[in-house]
Amino acid sequence: MTEHVTHVTHPLVQHKLTLMRQTDTSTASFRQLLREISQLLAYEVTRGLPMTTRRINTPLEPMDAPVIDGKKLALVSILRAGNGLLDGVLELIPSARVGFVGLYRDEETLTPVQYYFKVPTELEDRLVIAVDPMLATGNSSVAAIDLLKKAGAKNIRFLCLLAAPEGIARMKEAHPDVPIVTAAIDSHLNENGYIVPGLGDAGDRMFGTK
Ligand code: URA
Repeated sequence: MTEHVTHVTHPLVQHKLTLMRQTDTSTASFRQLLREISQLLAYEVTRGLPMTTRRINTPLEPMDAPVIDGKKLALVSILRAGNGLLDGVLELIPSARVGFVGLYRDEETLTPVQYYFKVPTELEDRLVIAVDPMLATGNSSVAAIDLLKKAGAKNIRFLCLLAAPEGIARMKEAHPDVPIVTAAIDSHLNENGYIVPGLGDAGDRMFGTK
């Protein structure tokens, strides 16, 4: 991927996102739409993966057919909202390895603190796709990618649903080598760090918590 940010403007993605943003969309619909949209975004975030060929037999004759090259890719969910994106992406890439990064915000220092970290082995040889629906301040995304790089990851892409300009700028400054794929770039963050117009708290909406 050459662009730092890929904005996926496909009509199916945009239509589903509009439904997700609406206040009166139920938890069940929100979850289903997120699953569908994440598969469309997975298609974009895996664009340009290195390919090789494998000798296969069709019923008519042998051929050298294209397959994805290299080790199985790693999907890393940034808890907890990342899990909503993870499920759909995994349906499209069922052989992917899966990791989880858990971070909470220290209310005094306002910095992200790690509480869970479990990722696949040989991260340095895999494409790592970190998933988190909301790129807001960028603090937790930057911290999660710091941890992934410390664990050896060299080839990382970041997949989200909505991004704020502030979060994109923060990611570009801290991790210019990590391309971002998003379905929308919204206007700004409010004083509580929510994306405006956004869709509210993605975790609460997908899990039905408040
Ligand atoms: N996280 C969310 O769930 N929503 C936002 O708007 C920002 C961060």
